[in-house]
Parts: sequence; structure tokens; C-alpha cells
Amino acid sequence: MRYRVAAIVPAAGSGKRLKARTKKPFVSLAGRPLITYALKALDSSKYIDEIYVAADPDSIKRLESVIYKYGIRKVTKIVAGGKTRAGSVKNCFDLVNPLCDIVLIHDGARPFPGDSDIMNSVLLAGRFGGCVTAIPMTDTVKLADKRLFIKKTIDRSSLWRAQTPQAFRYGMLKKALCEAKDISGVTDDASILENLGRRVKILKGSPRNIKITTIEDLKIAEVLI
Ligand code: CTP
Ligand code: MG
Repeated sequence: MRYRVAAIVPAAGSGKRLKARTKKPFVSLAGRPLITYALKALDSSKYIDEIYVAADPDSIKRLESVIYKYGIRKVTKIVAGGKTRAGSVKNCFDLVNPLCDIVLIHDGARPFPGDSDIMNSVLLAGRFGGCVTAIPMTDTVKLADKRLFIKKTIDRSSLWRAQTPQAFRYGMLKKALCEAKDISGVTDDASILENLGRRVKILKGSPRNIKITTIEDLKIAEVLI
């Protein structure tokens, strides 16, 4: 079956930890605005039909011209973001075409989503209802108390670090967002479904799919390019 897929790209954060003069979506990565990488990857995926971007209201005009300049064609709407990431996703979701089968969410701050990750997220969401890209934990994980004394070592074999893309059947996400009482503290979209007891499948992702949070991440991204 060929799914109709809407992508949501939250890009309305304030980029506090990056400490750049330019707003995070427009910060230069190898000469191109950061946001163009995620948008280009989604735009050129044959699995994505339309894209909704959440942006800071002051950045909407600038984002429009970047989208035009870089020939990104599938952006259907640029939506004013919310106070939190989950709020920004919700603002976009409310405008997504209800004829879509699958909604795929990918952070604007992750420049290197793999094309196969986009494809497999869509397929697994279709099969299981929800899917999260994640990578296995490689460090030893410690549980500590507030004064930073270790309580114990946690078995890392069942621990995963969640990334995006995350994809969900439209109806399932709609129901979860309606039922959820408070999404403000939620840092990824799968937890909205998990909190309601829904099954979410993990897709093993790539360590290359980094999120740009600090200036060091930008340097790593330049090296990856
Ligand atoms: N995001 C959003 N709306 C918000 C907060 C975050 O759309 N109110 C988006 C960011 O733009 C980013 C993604 O969610 O693409 C992941 O957030 P993060 O990496 O934390 O980016 P920022 O919130 O911009 O950075 P910081 O937390 O350092 O301020
Ligand atoms: Mg943030």
C-alpha cells in the first residue's frame, strides 16, 4: 500500500544552548542554513508528500525565502510554533491534511536523517501504529542521587537513545493528542502514545543522525559533511 505521508518539522525553538547570534534554523552549516538539510532530506524522499514547519513567528518570512531559495517544494504550511516542542508539533498537527495516513515528525535541528530511516519509519508506523528511530546506548549508565553519588549501574542492554524521525498513524496520533492531558513536558512524540499505553516500535537509527544542540555539534556536523 502507498501511504499518504505528512512530515512535521519543529523548528521554533530558541536555540539557547547554541548561543549563536543567528537563530538556530538559519545558522550556517557548511555554507547553508541548518534548516535546509532536514527540509531537503524530507523534500527529496519519495515517501513524503507534504511538509509542515513550525517556526518562531518572527522567522516565518525569512524561512519562506530560504525555502524558495533552496528549491524546497513540498512545504505546505509554515506554522507559528508553541512554547514547547510538543506545542509546536501540535500546532502543525492541527493543520495536517486529515486524508494523510501517516505523520512523520523530524526535528529541524537534525540535518542528516537517512533516506532509509525515513522510509522504514513510515513503513513501521503503518504496520505497528507508531515508530521511533533510536540508537542503542553505548556508554555505561549510572543512576545518581541529587548530590551526584552513584546509586547503581543500570543494565544498558535494554536502553535506547530516541532520535527523530518518529512516525505515527494519523488517527492514532490524533486520538493520543486528544486524550493527553498535558503535553508541555514531553520532549519526544512517542511518549504521548506510551503514556496512554500504546505500543511504539523502535527502528535502529544511525549515530550520524545527530541533533545540533551546542557549538560542538555544529563542528561535528561540518566534519560529517
Ligand atoms: N522546537 C520547537 N518549538 C519549541 C522548542 C523546540 O519547534 N518551542 C524545536 C527546535 O526548533 C528543534 C527541536 O524542537 O528543531 C529540538 O529542540 P532543541 O534541540 O532543544 O532546540 P531549541 O529548543 O531551539 O534549543 P535550546 O533548547 O538550546 O533552546
Ligand atoms: Mg529546546
